[in-house]
Amino acid sequence: MSPYRLTRILPLDATGADLRTDVLQGLGRDPKSLPPKWFYDARGSELFEEITRLPEYYPTRAEREILLARAGQIAAATGARTLVELGSGSSEKTRILLDTLPDLHSYLPVDVSESALTGAAEALLAERPELNVHALIADFTRGLALPGTPGPRLVAFLGGTLGNLLPDERAVFLKSVRSLLQPGDALLLGTDLVKDQGTLVAAYDDAAGVTAAFDKNVLSVLNRELDADFDPDDFSHVARWDPAHEWIEMRLRARRALTVKVRELDLVVTFEAGEELRTEVSAKFREEGIRNELAAAAMELSHWWTDDTGRFALSLSTPA
Ligand code: SAH
Ligand code: AVI
Repeated sequence: MSPYRLTRILPLDATGADLRTDVLQGLGRDPKSLPPKWFYDARGSELFEEITRLPEYYPTRAEREILLARAGQIAAATGARTLVELGSGSSEKTRILLDTLPDLHSYLPVDVSESALTGAAEALLAERPELNVHALIADFTRGLALPGTPGPRLVAFLGGTLGNLLPDERAVFLKSVRSLLQPGDALLLGTDLVKDQGTLVAAYDDAAGVTAAFDKNVLSVLNRELDADFDPDDFSHVARWDPAHEWIEMRLRARRALTVKVRELDLVVTFEAGEELRTEVSAKFREEGIRNELAAAAMELSHWWTDDTGRFALSLSTPA
């Protein structure tokens, strides 16, 4: 097995500095909120994988169905020699692309979760020892400098993770993705679609409580990284559909009035009984909206594919 390369683009202390800033800002504002990237320590990445197997959580299965149906077309349309994947996680569905792109030279998975990246790279190389895998520990919202590998480049952003960014963050992010693309390169984007509220809320509040554990994992991250004293049992998991924004919000609701210490920050945070901390938005999209957001970032949608029941879409775009 050829060794994969692992490059830490984020300096080790950058994660700590970012977390401090996000916690100071997010827990200091009213209503309180935290960015969802802090879910993904090793435990959070494992819990996300468990979520993908839940009966209620359809996006992973729907996107896999589209990839299986369309990988040949994606390969023909892109001729990709380098596959960059943002927020690659376990790279599970990506295997479908890796199996179908005939001229692939390099795979560059990018993630904040080191455990997810190393697990994925080791599993991939055990199956495909010839693949050049260069994993990058990086925050994709902070601009990316990618290693020089042969083009055409296909940038994949799967799973619907675009929806975890707020609209203004999405606009900035899509422009930074555009800056990675040369003529002949392409973006493969997975987006979850607007649908009935019952299906959506169930997907984010499953009967087995795995999503609740994932939601509360952010409190364990704060306890470990910032010496905070959150008791996850003091909070209830809430998943709510916001029809005006067309997004699911995940929140943690204080079960009683609480005072929490974040010792590393010399911060004392109070929660009233019933007060909610927003931990994630998961926006759901429509074709027109995606087309417009891509156009605003100088990209042109060339293909739009959905699964059989129209729950999820995969789109291919090129530099405009
Ligand atoms: N693409 C995979 C995983 C989706 S889960 C799939 O479709 O199943 C979201 C992934 O994005 C996680 O692995 C998480 O660690 C990563 N992630 C979240 N925010 C990130 C950020 N700002 N920069 C880099 N990776 C991020
Ligand atoms: C990674 N992301 C697309 C997931 C989503 O559906 O928004 C994260 C998630 N949150 C709760 N369940 C899954």
